[in-house]
Amino acid sequence: MDKTSLFTLTYGLFIAGVEENDKMNGCIINTAVQSTSDPVQMSVTMMKENLTTQLIKKKGSMTISVLSLDCPLDIIQSFGMKSGRNCSKFEGIEHKVDGNSNPYLEKNTLAYMSLNVSSVLDIGSHYLFICDVVEAEKTGKGQPMTYADYRALKSGKTVSKTNDEPSNDKTTYICTVCHYVYDGEIPFDELPDDWTCPVCNKPKSVFLAES
Ligand SMILES: Cc1cc2nc3c(=O)[nH]c(=O)nc-3n(C[C@H](O)[C@H](O)[C@H](O)COP(=O)(O)O)c2cc1C
Repeated sequence: MDKTSLFTLTYGLFIAGVEENDKMNGCIINTAVQSTSDPVQMSVTMMKENLTTQLIKKKGSMTISVLSLDCPLDIIQSFGMKSGRNCSKFEGIEHKVDGNSNPYLEKNTLAYMSLNVSSVLDIGSHYLFICDVVEAEKTGKGQPMTYADYRALKSGKTVSKTNDEPSNDKTTYICTVCHYVYDGEIPFDELPDDWTCPVCNKPKSVFLAES
């Protein structure tokens, strides 16, 4: 097996945040993935030995802050390479808390999600948390930081993307079930009510507008 093939997988970069018994902590993860859209569920894979993992397992909830490309490397290194057992990672970091009192970042992020853990799978070195998304809001605009961007920035390279707004201000309509992006001639709003997604056949109502 060529394990370097796995480097071709694309991931985002996130901070998983939690507050349990007055201890606020968080760590960098790249394993937050949307699993289903109705209801909205996500899976998160986390090392058992991380303090954040242990607090999440006790509390049964967490936040996910979606990092943007302008997130300073020192934030990633502080949340990703130190343990909250030896420091207070949120000290001096602007943050808010969700309805479960779990912390999330507004600056240097694109969005946050608030997750309630519905089941935990023991997969050896890690737990796989299956979660219901109970809150989700955008916190900023720009490009997301990917794991590949982080690796490039860390090794002193520049990334070709910029954090500028895309010049195209057209609204895009995306099927929340199969992720098909509408590209027809007729404006989406003028499509008949019985129009369905050409890929998964779901109704017009499952499409979301993104501008
Ligand atoms: C780029 C990057 C990606 C990471 N991805 C994950 C991940 O998906 N799951 C995980 O458990 N830890 C991941 N880590 C490691 C944790 O962030 C790290 O072990 C952290 O120090 C744990 O802190 P804690 O003990 O305060 O929870 C990642 C770290 C980095 C730098």
